[in-house]
Formats: sequence, structure tokens, C-alpha cells
Amino acid sequence: MRVLVVGGGGREHALVDACARYGHEVLCTPGNPGIAAQARVIASPQDPEALADLAVREAVDVVIVGPEAYLSAGLVDACQARGVPAFGPTQAAARLESDKAWSKTFMERHGIPTAAYQAFSELEAALSFLKTQPVPLVVKDAGLRAGKGVTVARTHEEAEAALRGIFSQPSAQAVIEEFMTGQEVSILALTDGEHYALTPPSQDHKTIHEGDLGPMTGGMGVICPFPLGEADLDFIRREIVERTLAGLRAEDLPFCGVLYAGLMLTPGGPRVVEFNARFGDPEAEAVLPLLASDFARHALDAARGQLDPTQVHFRDGASAVVILAAPGYPAEPQLGIPLRLPDPGPGQVIYHAGTALRDGGLVSAGGRVLAVTATAPTLEAALGHAYALADRVEFAGAQLRRDLGFRLGLRPGAATR
Ligand code: GLY
Repeated sequence: MRVLVVGGGGREHALVDACARYGHEVLCTPGNPGIAAQARVIASPQDPEALADLAVREAVDVVIVGPEAYLSAGLVDACQARGVPAFGPTQAAARLESDKAWSKTFMERHGIPTAAYQAFSELEAALSFLKTQPVPLVVKDAGLRAGKGVTVARTHEEAEAALRGIFSQPSAQAVIEEFMTGQEVSILALTDGEHYALTPPSQDHKTIHEGDLGPMTGGMGVICPFPLGEADLDFIRREIVERTLAGLRAEDLPFCGVLYAGLMLTPGGPRVVEFNARFGDPEAEAVLPLLASDFARHALDAARGQLDPTQVHFRDGASAVVILAAPGYPAEPQLGIPLRLPDPGPGQVIYHAGTALRDGGLVSAGGRVLAVTATAPTLEAALGHAYALADRVEFAGAQLRRDLGFRLGLRPGAATR
């Protein structure tokens, strides 16, 4: 098959890797230097019409869309209009992620368990409501902010500052939510809108500092599988994934692609923190190396409405992803820092997330720069191998969290650097 992967981060590198493993010809735009080793990287305008034209020109069998921005810009709609199968939701269905206020009303309409909330389109109303609420609480920008539009406010002052930040932008909307306690888990369902296969559950670590402290990032590292009990898994399937897919169908928004449910395992059971309309990043870098079947085939089947979940297989074992982020991330990542990468050993891989070539050398070109991944029979071993590889990367001032898995009582990240 000839596959076009759209995007240029660590998630797309993992998608390219998953397709290349099965011998498919892989094209990628805009790609990155790591992806260029496994795919033909194509420079192209990144607007939906130009990308869909590219897919036609290159006669690809399926387009696989990584980042949410392309989905909410209508790339899948543009592909469908040209008869090109595309793995990802339409612009209207991607609203589940791109409009957090709409997403909450959708959950309400379909009885999907989530935090209590209020949505606001004016600062003054949001501030008045805030005064009546206990802290901590959660303030969300209703639009797409690359995982960084969420503030867990411990004080009213923090919440007010977050709201003022959101409403400093034109046409902003904010959601104020009840603060939920428990462990977070990412559930990813590959789906054609009706049939679905769950990947192994995973857990991201979203703040920049250890102990889940500091500002939110796009994600600083993942462990997979997260050990979910059968009862929780069953509840998540029935009450969250199946209800959501059925609700989307009922509203004439059939959803193809990855339905990503970010959940909190509260004392009262699993609740949705947020939905995303694509693979998580770095969840993709943890989950895809465990896939033991042909992802490109699943993507094409899903795009045709014919996903067969019995054909989707994951190998036993575990994986861990350690993100190496630039100094200054998430506020002001330093770009252009020289990088030297070691050769990975068996079960190890370094996905490029934000890299570029400058004068023939590899440099940092984004906030999250490398996703250092390892698979192994156990989570402890996968974490050990990922940290050992991360510690051999030469990257001055790199930030990483050494406490991945701490909520499960794991401590394999003790400094060796
Ligand atoms: N890892 C969080 C996200 O992809 O949104």
C-alpha cells in the first residue's frame, strides 16, 4: 500500500514506523529528519485542499492524519470530497476535541460520565461564577491549545489569571470544571465509527515537573499498559466508548479514526476529563510499538467503514516513553540546540518530535524534541531501558521527568545522567 502520513512530530514518526514495519511505501508531510529515514518526506502547503490534492497526485491508498489542527481544519472532508480514504474524523466530528464547550454538552446529552461544568463566552460572567465555586477547580480554554489550555487552579487568583489569559484572545470561550481526584488514564479506540478496538490503556504525565507539578505540557512521558481492572475496563467500554460512538452516530457525526478518552479514575468510577479526536502524543509512541498487526491496513479498513477489531492485535509486554524537552519548555523553548543521538539497542527507538537539520547537524526545533521509547516484558524493564537510552542522548539543558510511573509506585528513573 502507499500511505500518506500527515504531521511532523513524535506521534507521526511512530505512525510512519508502524506503517513501514509492514512494508508499505510511506510518504509524509511535512515530516521531520527522523521520519525522513523511513519515509519520503514531501514539502507541501499544509492547508487541507493542497494536502488532499497531494494525496490524489501521489495516488495514495490512505491518508493518516496525526495532529488535531488538520482535522479541525477539514482535511478529512477534503480527502473524502476527492474520494481518497482518510483515517481521522471529519471537521464536524473532530469538534469533540476542538470545541470543549460543545464536547461537554455532547456528554451531557448522551449521559457520558464527566465532571460538572459551566461554559462561558464572557469574562465577567466567568469571574462571577468563579466567586461561588470552591477551589481547586479546572479552567479550560474551549479551543485547541496543544494540551496547554488547561489550568488546575489551587486558588481563586490562579483561576482568575487563567480566565483573563483565555479571554485576552478574540472569540474565546472558557469552561470551568469540577476538580476530579484519582489517576489519569488514556483510552484510545481505533474505530470506523461503529466497530472499535481499544489499544492497551496508557498513562501520560502532563506537567513539566516531577510529582505532577508545574505548568501543563503536551505530555512528558507515558507508561503502557496502565493496569486497569476488568470492571473499570468494562464500564469504560460500555458507558464511555460505546455511548460516545453511538451518540456521534445519532447526531449524524460518524467518527472514523482514534477516539481518545482522557479519563480520571475517581473514587466514583471512571469519568471523562476530555476527548481528543486523534492519537495522543506521546501515547502513540508507547502504544504503536506494541501493535502486532498492520496499522495501515486497519486505517484503510476504518476509513472504508470496515474495521475488523478481531484483526487488531497487541503483543504482551510493556512500553515506556521518556520525553526530552527543550530548556524553557513549555513557556519559551530554546531552539537550535545541537543534538547527538546514540544507536538504540533492541526494543529501543528514538522518535523525533521537534528536530531539524542545520548545517548538516541535528538541532532542537520545538518544545518536545525527542520521544525516547523502549519496549520490554515488564513496565519496570521498559522504563529502565528508556531512561538508559535517554541518558545517552547529548542534548544540553534537556528537561525530562525521572518519575514516570510514580503513581504506580515505580521508581526506575533515578538519575544516571
Ligand atoms: N498526551 C496528551 C495529548 O495528546 O493530548
